[in-house]
Amino acid sequence: MKEFEIQPDFDHLDQESKYLVHKAKEATAHSYAPYSKFHVGAALILQDGTVVTGANQENAAYPLCMCAERVALYAAAAMHPGKRIVKMAIVAHKKNHKELVPAASCGACRQVMTEFEERQKVPMEVVMMVAENQWVKCASAESLLPFLFTKDNLDSPSK
Ligand code: THU
Repeated sequence: MKEFEIQPDFDHLDQESKYLVHKAKEATAHSYAPYSKFHVGAALILQDGTVVTGANQENAAYPLCMCAERVALYAAAAMHPGKRIVKMAIVAHKKNHKELVPAASCGACRQVMTEFEERQKVPMEVVMMVAENQWVKCASAESLLPFLFTKDNLDSPSK
């Protein structure tokens, strides 16, 4: 697979991606977003076919808000330790609107995704709608975050 595949609409996505998008959409029902009113859902599929979902969880102390992606990733790690994540889809919609709006994962989530890849030694695909009817499928989270911070930075010798 190329680093990025851009599809002009949902119908062009592969079956597994469509299924995960559908699951991510369902997961937005469990978003708690009274402040932003921006409901995000994430769904990931593990190597054995298990699907784990997450939705953004906000807090009156704004910096404590947690993105849907990290809710799903940490849930997968806690509930299915050692199982490889194959692919993740992310979607969003505004409160009281069914239509999806573009939602590219934030930098913090990309950083966390890359460490999951590092731990499992295999890339995970990432699917998201980045613009009106523009679905992007990325071969790996790392392709979304060049020059990232890794544990190697912590290990580098001081002069
Ligand atoms: N949000 C996510 O859930 N994922 C992202 O990658 C970007 C932003 C959430 C966090 C917050 O609850 C709301 O969207 C507005 O930023």
